[in-house]
Amino acid sequence: MEKPRPAVETKPYTDQKPGTSGLRKRVTVFQQNQHYAENFIQSIISVIEPAERQAATLVVGGDGRFFMKDAIQLIVQIAAANGINHLVIGQNGIMSTPAVSCVIRKIKAVGGIILTASHNPGGPNGDFGIKYNISSGGPAPEGITNKIFDISKNLQEYLICPELKVDLSKIGKQTFEVDTFKPFTVEIVDSVEAYAEMLRGIFDFAALKELLSGPNHINVRLDAMHGVVGPYVKKIVCEELGSPANSAVNCVPQEDFGGHHPDPNLTYAADLVNTMKGGEYDFGAAFDGDGDRNMVLGKHGFFVNPSDSVAVIAANITGIPYFQKTGVKGLARSMPTSGALDNVAKALKMQLYETPTGWKFFGNLMDAGKLSLCGEESFGTGSDHIREKDGLWAVLAWLSILATRKQSVEEIMKDHWQKFGRNFFTRYDYEEVDSDAANKMIKDLETTMFDASFVGKKFSSGDKTYEVAVADNFAYTDPVDGSVSKNQGLRIIFSDGSRIIFRLSGTGSAGATIRLYIDSYEKDPQKIYQDPQVMLAPLVDIALKVSQLQEKTGRTGPTVIT
Ligand code: G1P
Ligand code: ZN
Repeated sequence: MEKPRPAVETKPYTDQKPGTSGLRKRVTVFQQNQHYAENFIQSIISVIEPAERQAATLVVGGDGRFFMKDAIQLIVQIAAANGINHLVIGQNGIMSTPAVSCVIRKIKAVGGIILTASHNPGGPNGDFGIKYNISSGGPAPEGITNKIFDISKNLQEYLICPELKVDLSKIGKQTFEVDTFKPFTVEIVDSVEAYAEMLRGIFDFAALKELLSGPNHINVRLDAMHGVVGPYVKKIVCEELGSPANSAVNCVPQEDFGGHHPDPNLTYAADLVNTMKGGEYDFGAAFDGDGDRNMVLGKHGFFVNPSDSVAVIAANITGIPYFQKTGVKGLARSMPTSGALDNVAKALKMQLYETPTGWKFFGNLMDAGKLSLCGEESFGTGSDHIREKDGLWAVLAWLSILATRKQSVEEIMKDHWQKFGRNFFTRYDYEEVDSDAANKMIKDLETTMFDASFVGKKFSSGDKTYEVAVADNFAYTDPVDGSVSKNQGLRIIFSDGSRIIFRLSGTGSAGATIRLYIDSYEKDPQKIYQDPQVMLAPLVDIALKVSQLQEKTGRTGPTVIT
């Protein structure tokens, strides 16, 4: 007897447009709106052609946040009912974003679903997110996310096998009979192993082991911030590379990240910053919820700006075995990221690409063999070993440089500035601003900037005067496929190369977040050790005046300064 199709009637939602990094909403939005998660999961699976599904494997994993396990059970049930053949899931659902990217590539899966809202807070009142990655291991490009969005807006039903339940804790294969399809299998895998294996092939583990546990070892402090990277740090840095167990803290993933923002910056990783100030540790790092971001600190809390971090790795790249094998194909940074990387590219005659914000733009360049190393000012650093930024990779890259150069973080950074000059950089974030006010501020600023008289205008603050050379809304033409991405951020570039950039965040879940970025280059060796906030104060002042940010949003100060 034929059983009924496992379809459930639903009504479409109009707000399931994936942002910079998947669909991010408050947990309550996923929980309280009927079929909200089911609809979106069905919309993702619907972009995989029915004919492909019976041979398709999807990788599934997340950062351990609240609602992740519920979402994984739904993915299992919906994937089965839609004829997906095979799922590979991290044990207990745990898999960092870089590890998912690694596993997709390794097993040649058609894609993966990552359950994370990255660095946003978790718990019942926090955020949840669902993100789709494609077979390259990278975030789905806009063509696909638009397709998912279109499907979600018209969805009338989804398919589900509600009875089907997997045990996420048990490593191994579980097989289920699903009507009309081949048996459906779910394979639970160790969350760390494939990723660890990949890192062993990238870095010189013997040299890292010597650095971390040899007779002249350094002391490190790694803060997983209760996010997903804890088990990776424990297994790779402590067990394998021999760093003492107590050098890694907050390593058990928690559904609410211990009540904190799992965001590795000077504000939300203040605990690490303060501990580092004590001088007991030579190297410190923190990671975000899903393990793709990193913050690097030296002894006494010496801060390495992420824009500098990627530049330092670039300048020392030939010490890393992976790049000795692959060569250096090119470098890239997102537009708001400081020009520190450009200086290295120029000096070492490497190709440099400037892309819009978001990791997905790097993927095309990597797939085309044009890009080896890239970074964003937002604590993202990575390479073409996978198609996501990679927090632990960045930390091992830094440790490799320490091992080779036998210098401290601060010495390496200062040598770098001496050699290449320094790009002073700061970012101001204004979080949860009223959306209408934020949109109006940006629109008005654009109008001001596009006035014919704006270019050539001089702005002064204190004893500094800057003359506008370029004013535009950044647009990017992908050199690989020719696709054009417009409206990627308002740029005011002055005649000395200093830049003021405004853009609205694409990853927030409530209200709007305004980001203000300032970048200014200094070559004078007398000035390169100054405090960035002091050096950049005139440009900040000019940015606030031109945009009237304070008047238009009612905000007298930013939520976070980096
Ligand atoms: C932010 C960062 C961006 C990063 C993204 C995902 O996006 O600014 O560099 O790629 O998170 O981690 P935004 O909120 O600015 O759109
Ligand atoms: Zn993240």
